[in-house]
Amino acid sequence: MSEATTGRGCDPFYAGDLAVIGRVSTASNLTLVCEIGPDGTVRESASDAGVRVVYKPVRGERPLWDFPDGTLAGREVASYLVSRALGWTVIPETILREGPLGPGMVQRWVESVDNHTERGDRLDLVDLVPAGAVPEGFREVLRAVDGAGAEVSLVHADDPRLQRMAVLDVLLNNADRKGGHALEGLDGTVYGVDHGICLHTEPKLRTVLWGWAGEPVEQELITDITAFVEALPGTIGDSLAEHITDEEIDALLTRGRRLRDDPVMPLPRTSRPIPWPAF
Ligand SMILES: Nc1ncnc2c1ncn2[C@@H]1O[C@H](COP(=O)(O)OP(=O)(O)O)[C@@H](O)[C@H]1O
Ligand SMILES: [Mg+2]
Repeated sequence: MSEATTGRGCDPFYAGDLAVIGRVSTASNLTLVCEIGPDGTVRESASDAGVRVVYKPVRGERPLWDFPDGTLAGREVASYLVSRALGWTVIPETILREGPLGPGMVQRWVESVDNHTERGDRLDLVDLVPAGAVPEGFREVLRAVDGAGAEVSLVHADDPRLQRMAVLDVLLNNADRKGGHALEGLDGTVYGVDHGICLHTEPKLRTVLWGWAGEPVEQELITDITAFVEALPGTIGDSLAEHITDEEIDALLTRGRRLRDDPVMPLPRTSRPIPWPAF
């Protein structure tokens, strides 16, 4: 049964007409920004209280040799289901539904903080600073040379909201946590987006959030993971099975048990542990 028919009332997010208002130009797959009018019809003016979403039609997916099963849209939905089942609010609500270019994933838009304003004196959650100049409250991930040839440090905030996302990435086996995929919402929540290449069976964790590697995971998060691991073989597993393979669900269970039994942030294990470009 689709999410649109499971009693979500008349929230236009689930079935309202999507009007495409823009394309995210840096995206490698087709990623569209859409709006839905308040009564489910196409939004007529910016003053309407509509719903803004990201829409990635399955048809716009570039095939990936190492993710041959299912769809990237399905992996985004499965990742959201994991975040929700944990009781975490890391991933904005994400569903599979129809859109103007056919079925795809639709995700609620996050209004996020803009730190790089003209007055700009705050760093983003993940940012670049001059080499070695790591500010208080940040952790260094690596040193590199930027586009202009200057030596820089890649840093991320030492922020529990971001660390929860890093723990989720370990569970999801996220192969693409770039800096631009961590958004600081105006509502004070830190959100993660772009989970199309998650949940593979083989270790593929590729992230900019290595600042906590080898450090203990908060007990509160482990309590949630413990409950998740117990509940996974039931209805959560059933809903995941609509989007990922049984082997991938088993691998998720194994990663969850491993974190529960040894609650430490993993060290990099692959040859390319940091996505590039990093943003
Ligand atoms: N739900 C969202 N809310 C706000 N901004 C988003 C959302 N999803 C994506 N974006 C923005 O769009 C950019 C591209 O989206 P992303 O999901 O990374 O697409 P792709 O899979 O094509 O890389 C992100 O880096 C982010 O800035
Ligand atoms: Mg992306």
